Amino acid sequence: MPLSNSPANSNPSPPPVPWADLRNARNPQLNSEGQLQHLLSLEGLSREMLTHILDTAESFLALNSHDVKKVPLLRGKSVFNIFFENSTRTRTTFEIAAKRLSADVINLNIEASSTSKGETLLDTMDNLAAMHADMFVVRHNQSGAPYLMAEHLNQLGIKDIHIINAGDGRHSHPTQGLLDMYTIRHYKKDFTQLRVAIVGDILHSRVARSNIHALTTLGVPEVRVIGPQTLLPSGLREMGAHVYHNMNEGLKDVDVVIMLRLQKERMAGALLPSEAEYFKHYGLTQAKLALAKPDAIVMHPGPINRGVEIASDVADGAQAVILPQVSFGIAIRMAVMAILAGGKQ
Ligand code: CP
Repeated sequence: MPLSNSPANSNPSPPPVPWADLRNARNPQLNSEGQLQHLLSLEGLSREMLTHILDTAESFLALNSHDVKKVPLLRGKSVFNIFFENSTRTRTTFEIAAKRLSADVINLNIEASSTSKGETLLDTMDNLAAMHADMFVVRHNQSGAPYLMAEHLNQLGIKDIHIINAGDGRHSHPTQGLLDMYTIRHYKKDFTQLRVAIVGDILHSRVARSNIHALTTLGVPEVRVIGPQTLLPSGLREMGAHVYHNMNEGLKDVDVVIMLRLQKERMAGALLPSEAEYFKHYGLTQAKLALAKPDAIVMHPGPINRGVEIASDVADGAQAVILPQVSFGIAIRMAVMAILAGGKQ
C-alpha cells in the first residue's frame, strides 16, 4: 500500500540551485507566444505540447519505415553537442537525429576544449555562437547549467539559438522523459488506464523527475515510486507519486516498470549497505516481475548494471523494451530539434 504519510520523505530537499529564482520568475524555455524556444525540462509543459512532440516523433518514424532516411528541415544549421558528462545513448542519438535532419553536427571535445583552461560555460557558448551555432545540446553535472545558458541568450535577446538539455545533474533529462513516454504510448496506447512503477535511486535521478512530470501531465492515474528511504527525495507526493519501500507491494498489477541505475557518481557517502543487499530488495528478477501484470513492459534509461538493479534474464527477456527505447530516442530528438527550429513535418 502507498506510504504517503510515512517518514519516507524525510530526506532533505536538494540545496537551492542558482536558477531557482529564474525558474520561479517565468518559464525560460517558452517564448512570449508560449512556443518552445529551448527544451530545458518537462516541468511546465502542457499535455498538448508533450503530445505534439510525441506525434511529431511518430511521423518521423513513419518516414523511416518508408525508407526516407533524411529530411532537409535543418539544412544549413549547426548543432553543437557539448557533453561535460559521459554519454553513449543521448550524445549518439542526438548526432544521428541532427544528421537525419540534414544539420551539420559538431561534437565539442570537452577534455581538449578551453573549459579545461578555466573558460566559463557562458564564454564557451558565446564563442561557439560566434561560429554561427544554431543549437546547443548540453549535458552537465551541475543542475541548472542549461537554464543559465538559455537565460543568457534570452537576456541578450537572441531568439535563433536554441538550448536542449541533455541531462543536468539530478534535475532533468527531458528528451529521455519524452522517449520514455513515446515507448509507453507505443506499447500501451492509453496513458489514462495505466499503473507505472519507477524503481530505485529516485533521489539522484533526473530521469525519474522528468518521467514523473510527464506521466502525471499525460494523465497516468497511478505513478508509483519504489525505493529505500535513503534513495527517495522529499516532495514526491506533491509531484503526484505514491511512495513504496517494498517491491512486492509496489509492483503489484503495474503495467510499466521503469528501473533506474544507482547513480553512484552523484551519491555523497554510503546510502546503501551493499550492492548485493540492494539487489536482494530492489533488483528486478523474474519472480518480482511476475507480480506485475502479465503483459507489463520493463524499461530502463541505461546504462544498465546487470545484477545490481536488474537481473540479466529480465534485461534480455521478452518483456524488456530497453533497446526499443534507444531507437525511439532518435525520432524524439529529431522531433524536438525540428520543433525548436520551427520546422513542420
Ligand atoms: N539514458 C542516458 O542518458 O544514457 P547515456 O548516459 O548513455 O546518454
